Order: sequence, then C-alpha cells, then structure tokens
Amino acid sequence: MNEPILSVNGVTKRFGGLVALRDVSFEVGKGEVVGLMGPNGAGKTTLLNVIAGEYAPDAGGITFKGCDITGCPPHRACHLGMARTYQIPQPFVTLTVRENLMVSAVFGRQLKRSTTEIDYGKIFDLVNFSEKMDTPAGDLPILSLKKLELARALARNPELILLDEVAAGITEVEIPQVLATLREIRNMGITIVIIEHIMKVLVNVVDKIVVIDKGMKIAEGPPAVVMNDCKVMEAYFGA
Ligand SMILES: Nc1ncnc2c1ncn2[C@@H]1O[C@H](COP(=O)(O)OP(=O)(O)OP(=O)(O)O)[C@@H](O)[C@H]1O
Ligand SMILES: [Mg+2]
Repeated sequence: MNEPILSVNGVTKRFGGLVALRDVSFEVGKGEVVGLMGPNGAGKTTLLNVIAGEYAPDAGGITFKGCDITGCPPHRACHLGMARTYQIPQPFVTLTVRENLMVSAVFGRQLKRSTTEIDYGKIFDLVNFSEKMDTPAGDLPILSLKKLELARALARNPELILLDEVAAGITEVEIPQVLATLREIRNMGITIVIIEHIMKVLVNVVDKIVVIDKGMKIAEGPPAVVMNDCKVMEAYFGA
C-alpha cells in the first residue's frame, strides 16, 4: 500500500443503545480507490460521517495526512483537503448551480482562490453535468443533484474525496460514464473512498474493498478476494 493518507483506528460510534460502528479500523493509501460495502443499515454512512467530522466517535480515532482530526468539526477536515458528498444531496437550494460551486471553491479549502480561477466547465465535463449554470439547485432533478454534489466536492480542490452512493439511481448504460469519471478523478491524484451498491462500479475501479456488517468490519482486500469471502456472502444472502 502507498503511504496512508487516512487511518481509521478502532472507531466505535453509538446512537443511544445502538452500536452503529464497533471497533472499525482500516487504512487508505495515498492515490488509492477504496470501496466501502455492506448491507443497508450496516454503518457505512455513519463511518463517512465520523471520518468527515460530522460525528465524534465514542472510541477510536481518525488520522488524515498525519493529523489527528478525531472529534474535530467538519470544516477542519475540509480545510486540510477532505471533501465529501452526501447520500441525500445537500446543495444550497436557493443558490444557482454556479453559486453552489463558488461557495465550495471559495470557502471549502480556503485556498484564497478567486471565483474567476475556478474552471467550472472542466468540473462539469468531468461529472457529465448538462444543466444550465444559472438554474437554482432546488429546481434540479435528482440525478443532476447527484452530479452537482460531486461537482461541489471537486470544487473544494480535495486530496481525499468521500463519495456516498453518487451513482445510486443511474441506469446500466450510464455505468461506463461513472467509471470514466471516477478514473479521471483518480488520475488527478485524488484519493477516493466510495460507498457503492452497484457491484459493476465497485469491482471495476477500486483497489480494495472494506466490508461492514452490523457496524463491524467483516472483510478487507482486493475485490476478487472479498467477493468470494463466505462472511461477506452470508451478510448479503444469509447462512
Ligand atoms: N443520527 C442517527 N441517529 C440514530 N441512529 C442512526 C443515526 N444515523 C444512523 N443511525 C442508525 O445507524 C445504523 C447505520 O446507519 P447508516 O446510515 O450508517 O447505514 P448505511 O450502511 O449507510 O445504510 P444504507 O446502505 O441504507 O445507506 C442504522 O441502524 C441507522 O438507523
Ligand atoms: Mg448510507
């Protein structure tokens, strides 16, 4: 593995009596694409939320680029170079597409870039976005909102991007486009952690997969190994 950019160290997260994550550890190497997989309710989004600083873990910690960011607010991770998308898109609905990108670019990583320095066209080409720039985000259909979500994350100029089901809802014919986008993001030198249920997307782009079931890591390794792991099959299909 390349030098780690992200380390998840023994993370436990509880919601009242529910243990959503239990002692989860793994590392992500710089430049890698790591897939997070697991049945519905397994704890994948919660894990992303703990990594990004949305939730503080009850035990364990997160190291990003060598900095301990455990319990730090999300803007700390963002300023260090981490960007994430939400499973349910979270744009500023009254702002236009262009304004949404400006907010991400200017306030996201605080690189003091002027709004004219951002190549919106390049970002939208990358995510295959075809809506008008002056459309309010609240008027966009769901698939465009998913693309805008990814565009907003890229506009933050990240080194690590956390993607929560950005391809959900796409059709079979759109899968090659999504794969091309992910490969291009990786070729830009951006490390990717991706939650995805569409196996064709995962197996064709990731270096390794981490599988979570009932809040626990049950497998980790290259796609071909993980897909044939009996614990993983049991988590999805039963004993
Ligand atoms: N803020 C919260 N308060 C209470 N319980 C929560 C909260 N967020 C998540 N949970 C619970 O934690 C568990 C893990 O949820 P999470 O959303 O992380 O699952 P997931 O793996 O992302 O599922 P999906 O594939 O459906 O998106 C679930 O039982 C969920 O109901
Ligand atoms: Mg989720």
